[in-house]
Amino acid sequence: MLKNDQLDQWDRESFFHPSTHLAQHARGETPSRVIRTASGVHIEDRDGNRLLDGFAGLYCVNAGYGRTEIAEAIAAQAHELAYYHAYVGHGTEASITLARMILDRAPAHMSKVYFGLSGSDANETNIKLVWYYNNILGRPEKKKIISRWRGYHGSGLMTGSLTGLELFHKKFDLPLSQVIHTEAPYYFRRNDPSQSEADFTAHCAAELEALIAREGADTIAAFIGEPVLGTGGIVPPPAGYWAAIQAVLKRHDILLIADEVVTGFGRLGSMFGSDHYGIEADIITIAKGLTSAYAPLSGSILSDKVWRVLERGTDENGAIGHGWTYSAHPVCAAAGVANLKLIDDLGLVANAGTVGAYLKSAMTEALADHPHVGEVRGEGLLCAVEFVEDRATRRFFDPARKIGPQVSATLLAQDKVIARAMPQGDILGFAPPFCLTRAEADTIVAATARAVKMVLG
Ligand SMILES: Cc1ncc(COP(=O)(O)O)c(C=O)c1O
Repeated sequence: MLKNDQLDQWDRESFFHPSTHLAQHARGETPSRVIRTASGVHIEDRDGNRLLDGFAGLYCVNAGYGRTEIAEAIAAQAHELAYYHAYVGHGTEASITLARMILDRAPAHMSKVYFGLSGSDANETNIKLVWYYNNILGRPEKKKIISRWRGYHGSGLMTGSLTGLELFHKKFDLPLSQVIHTEAPYYFRRNDPSQSEADFTAHCAAELEALIAREGADTIAAFIGEPVLGTGGIVPPPAGYWAAIQAVLKRHDILLIADEVVTGFGRLGSMFGSDHYGIEADIITIAKGLTSAYAPLSGSILSDKVWRVLERGTDENGAIGHGWTYSAHPVCAAAGVANLKLIDDLGLVANAGTVGAYLKSAMTEALADHPHVGEVRGEGLLCAVEFVEDRATRRFFDPARKIGPQVSATLLAQDKVIARAMPQGDILGFAPPFCLTRAEADTIVAATARAVKMVLG
């Protein structure tokens, strides 16, 4: 057993943590938290602190922690066959079964699943496939991708470009020139406060139409969006948004990529966000909830329309020049099979819907009248509280005051509840595991109300 102080030292000396203030961490100015074990909705650090994980890791441990069924499926697969590749038509029982299970759950017009390892690499795959698609169709100019400000689609070169958050562009020479951004579907932050929700939806569609007109529809290949904005602030779309956007895209023959990395497999109380909002995507991105993060696995679900063109492409050009060593890794696929089965057996999608609705209404009751709470919002088991300096004028706090991070740090210190301070704006985000009970939702709400009172009065 390692001594604690040694682990601390090694951490600061050796470990490059993602999304971390590197200098402060190396100097020991920020805490290093070593997580040792977990069960249900709780994680425990090596000092024995038991924390209620109100964000399911990075909104990914959907089935909850400590699921023996998934752990055993992983172990059994590793013993039987730890690895074989999926190139040139190879497969394993786990990867083939999982592809079938995904399509059984996906919208009916979807046809094939390509497996990757992360949401980022799945979206990189999607953009490559969209480019290939238009080349095969003889439209080599139709290549630009439209994404939304505040969208989150990963942090690779292309996907970091698709992401519409400043932190992911600054000093990285992003976004790449093929990516253009349009209005975020963020009603609370609309520029014109007099706009009704329906007017704001019409405004988002008109902005998209104007962008397409400026750039030329024959230069635009695809539009990518999350059914509910996630990392950009946990923002459900304004009423009628997806119908209005899809009408514009159809008019200009622009493909739609629904990034369901967060919403796929039940977080909204529906199997997919596409079902929830009537989105008819050409490609759906999946990751996190596919294995509940027990093993890294992502996927691109392709519609029949896209698939037919890819088939034609290989008839004309030979095998598709795309793949990773670990595509459809059998250990990860086994985790996926066990996870999707468990989610069905325990009725966790329905629970996400009912307990999610309860969490949002309890949070609204506890906080909506607070003078510094601008909005409590959510859908399914996604919930957010947005803070403002002045409610009447909707004036936001100076970001330098770090109100969101202060509330989240207080929540953790006082009541051992984890919420995520979202990266742009003073927004506290919740996305707990689907097995959350009403009593645990009450704990989250009571702790949040206490933390808000301590920080903001
Ligand atoms: C909607 C969405 N897409 C893509 C990603 C990227 O996934 P990953 O971090 O696995 O690369 C995320 C991660 O949070 C996400 O929320």
